[in-house]
Amino acid sequence: MVEQNEYAKIIIKGNEYEFPLIVGSEDEISIDFRKFRSTTNNIITYDPGYGNTGSCISNITFIDGEKGILRYRGYPIEQLAENSTFEEVCYLLIYGELPSKSEFQKFKSTLNYHDLIHEDMKKFFEGFPPNAHPMAVLSTMISSLSTYYPYNGDDQLDLQIIRLLAKVNTLAAFAYKKSIGQPYIYPRNDLSYIGDFLHMMFAVPSEPYHVNPVVERVLDKLLILHADHEQNCSASTVRMVGSSQGGIYSAIAAGVSALWGPLHGGANQAVIEMLKMIQKDNNDVDKYVKKAKDKNSSFRLMGFGHRVYKNFDPRATILKKAAEEVLNELGIQDPLLDIAQKLENVALSDEYFIDRKLYPNVDFYSGIIYRALGIPENMFTVMFSIGRLPGWIAQWKESRMDPDFKIHRPRQIYNGPNIRNYIPVSDRI
Ligand SMILES: CC(C)(COP(=O)(O)OP(=O)(O)OC[C@H]1O[C@@H](n2cnc3c(N)ncnc32)[C@H](O)[C@@H]1OP(=O)(O)O)[C@@H](O)C(=O)NCCC(=O)NCCS
Repeated sequence: MVEQNEYAKIIIKGNEYEFPLIVGSEDEISIDFRKFRSTTNNIITYDPGYGNTGSCISNITFIDGEKGILRYRGYPIEQLAENSTFEEVCYLLIYGELPSKSEFQKFKSTLNYHDLIHEDMKKFFEGFPPNAHPMAVLSTMISSLSTYYPYNGDDQLDLQIIRLLAKVNTLAAFAYKKSIGQPYIYPRNDLSYIGDFLHMMFAVPSEPYHVNPVVERVLDKLLILHADHEQNCSASTVRMVGSSQGGIYSAIAAGVSALWGPLHGGANQAVIEMLKMIQKDNNDVDKYVKKAKDKNSSFRLMGFGHRVYKNFDPRATILKKAAEEVLNELGIQDPLLDIAQKLENVALSDEYFIDRKLYPNVDFYSGIIYRALGIPENMFTVMFSIGRLPGWIAQWKESRMDPDFKIHRPRQIYNGPNIRNYIPVSDRI
């Protein structure tokens, strides 16, 4: 962070105030409003949805939505998706640098060592109804980690982080096995993080399971693309909950719940549901594009638009290519991919979408890849959660280590009734 000797001047009701500018390492300028309320005699800023508000100073992820740039700790997403692994990206996001060979070896074996869950935790799974959504199960199970592995202060931080990373894979796979009535498959330490997840998801005790390297690689790529996205709804939730200085598990469980909604991580499932709906309706793409533009309809093209990216989402560009490649390599013909491509072409040449800078986002093609890998729709957002976990952890850790750390407590503009006297119910009409 560079603090400039430059100021923003604000005139309110004839009084002039000066506030310093803060410039980030990528020259992003902001006005330092930390002393705004105290200087201006209780005036506050109004910014619902926080679209203009920097809630923290962060070293983790840089996004330039206009230019379609996404970098983790300075490394372009394209290079990481092409050359790195999800495990390495976890290390990078959480510890700030790429690991040395020995650091990476140690990190991987520690993750392996902690991937089992306490046997009694399996009983929780028995208590959920068979059709429980795996996101609800995942959030609950992450929360319940604090009962088995209680938070004993920040000196155990690294252990907590490793446990979380290692066990979420197992919890997610067990949630899936429970939902389809198959026996739980225990983790295997000879497999990679992703390979082991696939094995716990798809192996059955009665026959050997071999991890398909094509599937492993594309899933690795997908999770790398999801690993962090600076101050989005779920990361901000994690920071918000963490700001009361509770344990990491409760903050991450809250992040999972925030991610679940269709305007955030739930969009990948919503995309596939939308494509199926179009397929059922004689592949009538034009009808749905028209509906998305109709102001009397609440229908939106799922997987289109982004609060930050206003030209293209770099993750969607990588995933579009990956979707075509993986379907090709696995010899799968998915009619939903054809519909998605047609929908993208129609929308991208339509004035409504051009004017509003609405482009496919990361969720548009990720569902098609998950389908090709055999991952069921209700697990899509769980996959996103596994991918986003290192980002949430890095955001939580950074916030906890911040010397300016404060409990999050926004203000409001009250616009309700003015003071009035209570009337006993017997006197009311
Ligand atoms: C992601 C999203 C929530 C971003 O929202 P936002 O930045 O707050 O944008 P707004 O909701 O203000 O939308 C701006 C305009 O574009 C329109 N718009 C936004 N996304 C749209 C979509 N997917 N389909 C049709 N119209 C859309 C809005 O109706 C609005 O039109 P208006 O200016 O005429 O009122 C939004 O684009 C959306 O709902 N997308 C679909 C869900 C999705 O894919 N989410 C995953 C995000 S990774």
